Amino acid sequence: MHNTISGFSKLTKAEKIDWILDTYFNNDEASRKTVTQYFNSDYKLQKLHDEFIENTISNFYLPLGVAPNFLINDSLYTIPMAIEESSVVAAASKAAKYWYNRGGFKAEVISTEKIGQVHFTYSGNKEDLQRYFEALKPKLIADASPITKNMERRGGGILDIELRDKTNVLANYYQLHATFETLDAMGANFINSCLEQFAETFKAEAETHNIQNLNIVMSILSNYVPQCLVRAEVRCKIEDLKDKDIPNPEAFAEKFKQAVAIAEVEPHRAVTHNKGIMNGIDAVVLATGNDFRAIEAGVHAYASKGQHYTSLTHCKIDNDEFCFWLEIPLALGTVGGLTSLHPLVKFALQMLGKPSAKDLMKIVAVAGLAQNFAALKSLTTTGIQQGHMKMHLMNILNQFEATETERKHLVNHFKSNTVTHSAVVEAIEKLRA
Ligand code: MEV
Repeated sequence: MHNTISGFSKLTKAEKIDWILDTYFNNDEASRKTVTQYFNSDYKLQKLHDEFIENTISNFYLPLGVAPNFLINDSLYTIPMAIEESSVVAAASKAAKYWYNRGGFKAEVISTEKIGQVHFTYSGNKEDLQRYFEALKPKLIADASPITKNMERRGGGILDIELRDKTNVLANYYQLHATFETLDAMGANFINSCLEQFAETFKAEAETHNIQNLNIVMSILSNYVPQCLVRAEVRCKIEDLKDKDIPNPEAFAEKFKQAVAIAEVEPHRAVTHNKGIMNGIDAVVLATGNDFRAIEAGVHAYASKGQHYTSLTHCKIDNDEFCFWLEIPLALGTVGGLTSLHPLVKFALQMLGKPSAKDLMKIVAVAGLAQNFAALKSLTTTGIQQGHMKMHLMNILNQFEATETERKHLVNHFKSNTVTHSAVVEAIEKLRA
């Protein structure tokens, strides 16, 4: 084991790489190349990326793909997706085209409320605390006005602050539970700044109001935003579901509905089902410069809000109509943060027509619904491996730089033979011999 290093963050990028190569790679030059080959020759662009985080040593590329033909509330979008997993963008594009021909997606924002909490302990009389809170509430809001005035001018700000007694779940535990409207900003900095100001005022005024033993534990926004909700749906006549993979639309609709019902009742399936939804959601969230970890955490908490973890999508058949929808919390921003810094994020947002946060909520929800539709359509008809293996075959053919004629021959061959890496290599070798 090597010694710890102090002052690492103060080293230059080159010195950091030298230390890593010396410590872990025996100063191997090929490993240096692995890291440095991703440097961007544009100095300004590289510096921008270096400064997004700390201790940067290189860039870690993700492909940016696009899924065209998304008809959402009668407007047409090409959706940017940053993701490393093959088949996801293809599946989104296929679902977009499929629903384009059946009226497109409909999406609506149900609510846009964000949440933040000051967590504190107090061991005195509850009524005294309640009286103190009520007396202080206007001052809590007033003291935060330097932070809130710009947001208020645009129509947002603090919606409410409540005192919540949580002593039934943890001794002496209370919260200031605050709600916010942050408009087009994700609002994390705004909310956290307001909360820290609430905490300061709340603690500072306690003594003069004869409130003892009040201790602030922490102030932080919540990534669980069940009142920042969006709904996306598709619907059409069952007979219109017909396509080349769906010769019998009635049977398909029933089986599809059954697949959703399984995810609704069975957490093992629900997790995978929702993972597929997040394939679409995270990819758009990332491409548009939003925080996919926050979205993931909030969405899965929402999926667990009932008795058990469940599906985020639902399906019903009403007479002769098929309806499939998704409802999720999404706290997104289209201003601030990376949105004005990262050139590809700006590009992605411009491609989407510079959406408001509400518009982006709809687009992201639709991407999730489309992804789930595509996954369930494959799973309940041809199976998921057919598409994956076709992609796998293409990757191997690319690796071997197969010619057009070789490609045609091998694609045909593997229509009736199982794709494995060794089977493809063997077939190429045989063909070339
Ligand atoms: C793979 O990334 C996602 C799926 O497993 C989703 C699903 O099973 O619904 C195909």
